Amino acid sequence: MRVIRTIEEMRRLRPELGRLGLVPTMGALHAGHVSLVEVMRDRVKRATGVLDSTAVSVFVNPTQFAPHEDFHRYPRPLEDDLAMCEGAGVDLVFAPSVEEMYRPGEVRVSMDPGMLARRWEGELRPGHFAGVCQVVAKLFNILTPSWACFGEKDFQQLAVLRAMTGSLDYGIGIVAGPTRRDADGLAMSSRNRYLSPAQRARALAIPRAIRATQKAYADGEKSVQALERVLREALLRDETSSGVEVELQYAVIVDPETLEPLAGGEGTELRTLADESRILVAVKVGTTRLIDNAALVQLPNH
Ligand code: PAF
Repeated sequence: MRVIRTIEEMRRLRPELGRLGLVPTMGALHAGHVSLVEVMRDRVKRATGVLDSTAVSVFVNPTQFAPHEDFHRYPRPLEDDLAMCEGAGVDLVFAPSVEEMYRPGEVRVSMDPGMLARRWEGELRPGHFAGVCQVVAKLFNILTPSWACFGEKDFQQLAVLRAMTGSLDYGIGIVAGPTRRDADGLAMSSRNRYLSPAQRARALAIPRAIRATQKAYADGEKSVQALERVLREALLRDETSSGVEVELQYAVIVDPETLEPLAGGEGTELRTLADESRILVAVKVGTTRLIDNAALVQLPNH
């Protein structure tokens, strides 16, 4: 496995790699990331039979963090990440420094991430998706992959990046990897390592609330407002009695394509509830922000 630290080296090596599949990450890799490599390999090979190499990028991108967010304390266990990539049969890891990606003194151009970035994460984290689009566009230009795989765990990010890739004609196939969960149901995330045991126990309200909402829908509840009530009540219910603080940032059911709310509200129309409607949740447990999502009816392979 090659580890490349500079853009120049990457460009020199690029012709040897053939048709490339890329998994962009910020490192602190876990089994969810490894599954993205596997999903991409399987899907692309099955669909086209021509994936020559797989690459993982490891870069904690400063432009997608607001000044008060966790950029400086974001975990950077590069040696562990490399071992994980090696174990997953990755051919190349691109791990540039911040100065390599954002050259000091350079005039920077960023991107308008479009309508899909307007609500939810986009509203709570102004500038976040502009930063995500900026770095992913740079990675696309540097590595020129034929496919790129992103996790459904960041459902809005996936939608924004699909739109970016399509509307800017990158000609790159976007592959979505299902959310991986630990045995207790918590969606895998590099930020889970910030949680104390008590906070983690409290965070289990998230998968529980999603399951409760899916069950209510399966049992015949077809009112969006009632389903969102089930979701919010389950998130706020402290079954651990630990007193760990939970701040509900949003807990909504949205159209899976437009990410617009189904429950109406100012300036929105009522849209139809369907099996594919998406439950989106963002919660702060202590100081850690966690997001999760699922369809109202989950497909068997998810
Ligand atoms: O999802 C992530 O890890 C990041 O947002 C990404 C897509 C690698 C861009 O920095």
